[in-house]
Amino acid sequence: MSERITGGHRVFNRVAEEYDAARPHYPETLYQALEELSGVRLKGALVLDVGAGTGIATRGLLDRGARVVALDRGERMLAVLRGRTALDLQCRAVLGDGNALPFRDGVADLVVYAQAWHWLDRRASIAEAVRVLRPGGAVAGWWNIEDADKADWLAALEVRLAEACPAYVGPALPGWSMPPIAEAMAEAGLLVAQTWVEWTRSVSLEGFLTHLRSLSYVAALDDRAVAELLARERAELVRVFPDGRLTVPMRVYLATGRKGPEG
Ligand SMILES: C[S@@+](CC[C@H](N)C(=O)[O-])C[C@H]1O[C@@H](n2cnc3c(N)ncnc32)[C@H](O)[C@@H]1O
Repeated sequence: MSERITGGHRVFNRVAEEYDAARPHYPETLYQALEELSGVRLKGALVLDVGAGTGIATRGLLDRGARVVALDRGERMLAVLRGRTALDLQCRAVLGDGNALPFRDGVADLVVYAQAWHWLDRRASIAEAVRVLRPGGAVAGWWNIEDADKADWLAALEVRLAEACPAYVGPALPGWSMPPIAEAMAEAGLLVAQTWVEWTRSVSLEGFLTHLRSLSYVAALDDRAVAELLARERAELVRVFPDGRLTVPMRVYLATGRKGPEG
């Protein structure tokens, strides 16, 4: 039985540097799918990046011409974002709660949750997103995950993580599925679309171990348990990838919800 972590911002504050160094970016095809499904062109759009963390999606959105307001409840995560992202007229960083957005009604073209919505309140978050969106704007949530169906070593890794981490959430749990953002958006009256985007990540063994360290359910362990887990995974992964370079099948689940033109 998984022990749910509450206060995601606190657990990520412990591993903010590791998070930014080792979490995968989002592929170009994700941003293309985001524009297609949401109907919002990123160039020139005002995007609220909620649960922005260290800014992995923020910088992806900026690179595609969006103006971004990055909001997070974690001070350490936001400090890393501020250090790694050019903050100017195109981008602002705000310490705040995604369940009570400190923004006026109707200002945003797009509200995004990159890997973040599952930390928020299901109803309050979407109600807030709908409030701050302009008519015709959209909400989007996405999650970048390892595709354990495509590689036996990944499926085995997930089983070991589930055994070692009481707060584990993922495909090794019976009945596990992606967070129900599409249902929450439909309940709020939005027009919902969903897709999956597949891609392949190439990452060093050290980078992948740092990535494991940044997972919330690993970060929630005590230092000794983290050290044991990483030592064991190093030994397992070296057996599969003796040259120290991992090829990781990935997929991104994307859901968007459009607000009607009448608002
Ligand atoms: C998995 S990280 C995602 C970071 C980033 N969006 C990315 O794509 O890498 C989840 C983020 O949600 C933030 N978070 C958790 N609860 C929050 C809340 N109530 N309001 C705003 N941010 C929150 C955490 O601090 C963390 O930075």
